[in-house]
Amino acid sequence: MADLVNDIQLKPVPAHVAIIMDGNGRWAKERGLERSAGHVEGVTAVHRITQAASDMGVRYLTLYAFSTENWNRPQSEVDALMHLISFALERETPSLIANNARLEIIGDIDRMPDEARRRLDNSIKATAHCTGLTVVVAFSYSSRWEITRACAQIAREAAAGRIDPDSITADTISAHLATAKYPDPDLLIRTGGDMRVSNFLLWQIAYSEIFVTPTYWPDFSTEEFAAAIDNFRGRERRFGLTSEQINPAL
Ligand code: FPP
Repeated sequence: MADLVNDIQLKPVPAHVAIIMDGNGRWAKERGLERSAGHVEGVTAVHRITQAASDMGVRYLTLYAFSTENWNRPQSEVDALMHLISFALERETPSLIANNARLEIIGDIDRMPDEARRRLDNSIKATAHCTGLTVVVAFSYSSRWEITRACAQIAREAAAGRIDPDSITADTISAHLATAKYPDPDLLIRTGGDMRVSNFLLWQIAYSEIFVTPTYWPDFSTEEFAAAIDNFRGRERRFGLTSEQINPAL
């Protein structure tokens, strides 16, 4: 593993990696366990991959932990996830600080129960001084929620005369999203094998490279994460241009 990390460090890594952590339920079902056991194991994978991202020099790691649609799961699973995610982030806080990693949240967190919200706020405050990796947890998040909210905000500012509708550009939209502070993801990873983006960062992934693996999230290893990063490095990102424009020497 150390060799793999060293090798990756010699090459530029993606600044921003976003992950759809899928497959916890199937991981548990295949072992005859409750779905919640898959989520518990998923926390271990979060710890592992956060550490690896920090070691490799990734600047931003955005994790899709709970979608707007996840509120519609059975209440017992919603309660278990609330409890698990807020406790896990609280428990991980010393390790985040030790790695100089900062925790931030995007999403409609007003919907979160008070106790879970309090734990999250404490972790966010405790890591606010850290300057290394930023771990962005998408919680009660969906892209359509975020884009709708941005449109409403822009409309309010236009109605108040602070924005000229004719001057609205893509940058205006980006600046009103929950992710305004972050660069767009360079690499989107989805575990669990499904070929879809599930209402995650729809605006921001316009030019992201996508890596889908059948591996369930609890089994996603540091080695496979490093392989995804290496795979990304081998791709030519053209942003709508031609190869020749990107590499004039060709
Ligand atoms: C998708 O698996 C996963 C989730 C809805 C929850 C992800 C949460 C964690 C990994 C817990 C910890 C998170 C943090 C940030 C500490 P699924 O249940 O949809 O799996 P399935 O597709 O196999 O049913």
